[in-house]
Amino acid sequence: MRMLLIGAPGAGKGTQAELIATRFGITHISSGDLLRTHVNEGTAIGRQAKEYLARGDLVPDAVVMDMLRKPTVAATASGGYVLDGFPRTVDQAKAAYETARGLGVAVEVAVYLEVRPAELTRRLLARGRGQDDTPDVIEHRLEVFEAKTRPMLDYYQEREELITVNGARPVNEVAWSITVQLQQLARRSQRAGA
Ligand code: AP5
Ligand code: MG
Repeated sequence: MRMLLIGAPGAGKGTQAELIATRFGITHISSGDLLRTHVNEGTAIGRQAKEYLARGDLVPDAVVMDMLRKPTVAATASGGYVLDGFPRTVDQAKAAYETARGLGVAVEVAVYLEVRPAELTRRLLARGRGQDDTPDVIEHRLEVFEAKTRPMLDYYQEREELITVNGARPVNEVAWSITVQLQQLARRSQRAGA
């Protein structure tokens, strides 16, 4: 299975991706976690990404795509992945589609975790992750999501299967809702293919 988890900062992408990866025996790949590891280790990718992360801006597409190529190919070979935080722009979605097609694989489903801004801000301030969970940077990250990532939802709605889940409920309820909707989708596509 190959799945994309889309959502604003604090929507619960990382939390749900962990649960999905365990439940379906697939690999969790988080673009944000990988970028933070590169920054902490001072790699070439980390040096290019550092300032963008600190400001809450998107890291240039080429850097992110380069970083994700190996882990996604490896995960595809070993049962699939749940990608958290990528793609994040229409351009990234198009590039991901082309890359997947080149490898002979397709992304099966995109899941959008919907949560209102006030709840997102509350969660992120409560978590306080490093430099990017300060009030100013959180506000900017939410603006970047609206400007750059929200248009991508239309892209998926039109071209691929998009599941929208209310992410403002307790963690286990959100997880349950994702599973139920995935099963419904699988049944629909079985019927369509039958
Ligand atoms: P990234 O690491 O992806 O951060 P983000 O999108 O801002 O999202 P978060 O990781 O903060 O939140 P999340 O949705 O994973 O929620 P979580 O489960 O942690 O990206 C960071 C930066 O990297 C970007 O700003 C950019 O610079 C760069 N980057 C990454 N990908 C990129 C890309 N593709 N292109 C370019 N640049 C890229 O939950 C948040 C908190 O809420 C936690 O404390 C959690 O315990 C809590 N919580 C979760 N679910 C619930 C619930 N249901 N109820 C109550 N609390 C909950
Ligand atoms: Mg995350």
